[in-house]
Amino acid sequence: MMIKPNTYPKFPRDCHSLLSKYLTPEVFASLQHKTTKNGFSLQQVINSGVENPDSGVGVYAGDEDSYRVFAELFDPIIAEYHGFASSDSHVSNLNADDLDASNPDPDGLYIISTRIRVGRNLAGYPLGPAISSDQRNEIAQRVSQLLSNLDDSLRGNYYPLSGMDEQVRKRLVADHFLFKAGDRFMQAAGMNRDWPEGRGIYHNGDKTFLVWINEEDQLRIISMQTGGDIKQVFTRLSNALGEIGSKLEFMSNQHLGYISSCPTNLGTAMRASVHIKLPRLAKNMDSLKSITDRHELQIRGIHGEHSDSQDAVFDISNRRRLGITEVDCVRGLYEGIVALIAAERAQ
Ligand code: ADP
Ligand code: ARG
Repeated sequence: MMIKPNTYPKFPRDCHSLLSKYLTPEVFASLQHKTTKNGFSLQQVINSGVENPDSGVGVYAGDEDSYRVFAELFDPIIAEYHGFASSDSHVSNLNADDLDASNPDPDGLYIISTRIRVGRNLAGYPLGPAISSDQRNEIAQRVSQLLSNLDDSLRGNYYPLSGMDEQVRKRLVADHFLFKAGDRFMQAAGMNRDWPEGRGIYHNGDKTFLVWINEEDQLRIISMQTGGDIKQVFTRLSNALGEIGSKLEFMSNQHLGYISSCPTNLGTAMRASVHIKLPRLAKNMDSLKSITDRHELQIRGIHGEHSDSQDAVFDISNRRRLGITEVDCVRGLYEGIVALIAAERAQ
């Protein structure tokens, strides 16, 4: 469905997105003629959720200014998703020494792999929905150049998506290392423009440290490995962020932490996940969901967001990212996983 400019969108009855909940006719009337410093409009903010009524959220920011100009819409969405009030401020803690989380599955019976990613965008540029092709290419050039100077266990190579061998690309996606082509939510947000130009992946030799360039965020910085040693994965990420963050200025502010185009990724911009096999709980999804809800965890399928679980393997990750520290995100995942493994054993 295309939105008619300056017309209040019609949401179907079965639409439960946060956009449909908080874009009241009054909020629409108050925001419809506003634009950000980069010319990003309300219509652009809401297009993804209007075209995709099955969105959970449905809005994207085109720049940091979007969160200020369209605060009447973003603030209640952020409050509901993260439990974070517009008067709160965000605190970061990436110190691995503060993380009390041993391997919740030392015998390797349940956890297949652990991955922690953060999103980052560069200060001084628009976000994905509003960036120009030249700016995107400039970022790819700057970031890949910087990464090529990393040493030791972070040393690796950059592989642009343009011109990548199709078999190689498919293998990287299937093995959970590379992003897929942008989905319909990103498409409607304007984030797939000029695909695949300016996109790519950097990774070290054993693919435990990876950086996605110009997917949903300008950088997705990822640490992952097989097994459940959450602390080792966090430590690697924290070290890498120290290196990269000393050379690039990321877009951030005191209130919202690291800025991302999707409000679900604000703050820490961190998703810490395990791929975990839970064959007994898989037959009792209510019980599984009651544990993940209690620990504020999200369940995804094993091929990423909007995919299904297979063979009783689930992707379990922290749901909140703003108003809690990075250490809290990972500790929350750890506690939830301990509870899930105990429940699986008790079934
Ligand atoms: P993001 O994590 O960046 O929000 P997705 O949910 O789409 O995006 O996941 C990206 C990729 O990372 C997918 O291929 C997914 O299967 C993979 N992935 C996520 N968590 C893990 C994990 N713990 N182990 C291995 N692969 C993972
Ligand atoms: N816009 C989509 C929705 O509202 C995805 C939101 C979260 N995921 C993301 N990749 N940003 O359902």
